Amino acid sequence: MGSRIQKVLLVGEVIVFALSFSSGLLGRWFSRKVNNLLRRNRSNGDLKEEPGSRSIVIVGASYAGYFAAHLIATALPKDSPYRVVVIEPNSHFHFTWVLPRFCIVKEEHKAFIPYGPYLVGTSVRWVKDRVATIERGSVKLRSGGAIPYDFLLIATGSGYGADNGLPSRVGAEDKAAGLEQLRGVQTRIEQAKKVVIVGGGAVGVELATDAKDAYPEKHIILVHSRQAVMHRFGPELQAAALKGLQDLGVEVVLGERVQGEQIDGHVNLSSGRKIECDFLIQCGGQKPSSETIRTLSPGSISASGHIRVKPTMQIIDETLPNVYVCGDVAETGVSNPNSRAAADNARTAADNIVCAVEGQLPKYHYKHHWAASGIKLTLGLHKSVVHLENEKAELLFNVKEKRLDLMSGQAWRHWSVSPFEDVSEPHISESSDESLAKK
Ligand SMILES: Cc1cc2nc3c(=O)[nH]c(=O)nc-3n(C[C@H](O)[C@H](O)[C@H](O)COP(=O)(O)OP(=O)(O)OC[C@H]3O[C@@H](n4cnc5c(N)ncnc54)[C@H](O)[C@@H]3O)c2cc1C
Ligand SMILES: *[C@@H]1O[C@H](CO)[C@@H](O)[C@H](O)[C@H]1NC(C)=O
Ligand SMILES: *[C@@H]1O[C@H](CO)[C@@H](O)[C@H](O)[C@H]1NC(C)=O
Repeated sequence: MGSRIQKVLLVGEVIVFALSFSSGLLGRWFSRKVNNLLRRNRSNGDLKEEPGSRSIVIVGASYAGYFAAHLIATALPKDSPYRVVVIEPNSHFHFTWVLPRFCIVKEEHKAFIPYGPYLVGTSVRWVKDRVATIERGSVKLRSGGAIPYDFLLIATGSGYGADNGLPSRVGAEDKAAGLEQLRGVQTRIEQAKKVVIVGGGAVGVELATDAKDAYPEKHIILVHSRQAVMHRFGPELQAAALKGLQDLGVEVVLGERVQGEQIDGHVNLSSGRKIECDFLIQCGGQKPSSETIRTLSPGSISASGHIRVKPTMQIIDETLPNVYVCGDVAETGVSNPNSRAAADNARTAADNIVCAVEGQLPKYHYKHHWAASGIKLTLGLHKSVVHLENEKAELLFNVKEKRLDLMSGQAWRHWSVSPFEDVSEPHISESSDESLAKK
């Protein structure tokens, strides 16, 4: 009974969270409109600076950086001296949510959403490059150049470490190479009889259940070092995930690690057990990409590798008040990093940068709300569970999935592109390659 009441309270909290979230957005929209009106009057007598003479540089354009770039570019008045400079090495937005799915299902092109239409405005410059190091007042690019900044937003996320590949991340910057990687994994799984998947977090569970659902005749083994899959979540989700795996016939091996590589059709486990395997796939955790700031501000990097921030999303370093951080790379105490939390704190950073360029002090504070850590976990091709929890209770809903590509169409529309139209160069050359291959 007690737990029943806790669940009811949890539902109430989720509703309050949803309402307060939208009223917060409305309040900010309104205050921005008023500010724009006031500014128009204020700037009449001021000395005008050339438009484009000052820069807000955003490093990384994913859930956090791309969203923040959009918010800032739309908030800047037309005659603002500031422009937004986005630096991003990837040719397309990588829709991470569907990467495990497209290691099985051959709709991989849907994971690459064209950049561009979401960022309209004359005050935006796009630089396809990677930031090598951040310095005081400028960033150094991999290609050698430097770009000066008046304000900097670091949104480099996670994943770009030693273990940077599928199924968690696309280890390639250009779409054509990314598609090739996904197709490579699809083929390896298709050709294998015994697949060992390492890591029982969301990515490992989703990949294992999809693989077994698509290929019931294959032996799919999930090896996880902890005593439960989805160990970072509550026991109800752990149990639901385990049941989903077992119902499909995935073999789940807990409390074991895989030693070394797969050789001669087998792998060794830490207990000494040997299991047959002709394809091994790692679903390891993601590391925050904070290297770019290490030389300039080593003290701002936490033990976990995140960049420590103030509630305003400014970097914790007092000598760098014009440097902001958002998304997965920021230390915000989120136990389950996710796109929603990344976008929430990106909004705080963007709003504060808009305040700061107007000469005001940053006034918005980010506080993680547990409801933003809800998760939808697929358990095979047609089934998902949606899960929410606070410290006292968990809520779990079973969902039937109608679409193999999950929310791909919605994601394209969210980033202002009609699904699945890609007129960019890499796509054109990719599809012509494909038609050649078929001949
Ligand atoms: C397989 C998988 C499935 C997921 N599923 C879900 C889900 O269903 N729901 C959910 O809410 N969340 C999900 N997540 C989590 C979600 O993807 C992350 O929380 C989110 O991507 C964080 O966004 P971000 O913008 O902070 O960073 P990232 O998405 O990590 O992006 C960082 C960006 O910065 C760029 N970058 C990095 N270094 C540099 C540099 N030096 N110079 C320039 N650019 C740089 C990268 O190219 C990249 O575009 C999933 C994650 C994975 C890996
Ligand atoms: C802006 O200036 C105009 C003309 O000087 C005035 O009529 C208007 O009330 C002012 N608006 C604001 C928001 O101050
Ligand atoms: C597994 O262990 C055996 C015995 O120690 C060894 O001969 C073999 O090479 C190991 N296999 C792998 C894939 O590491």
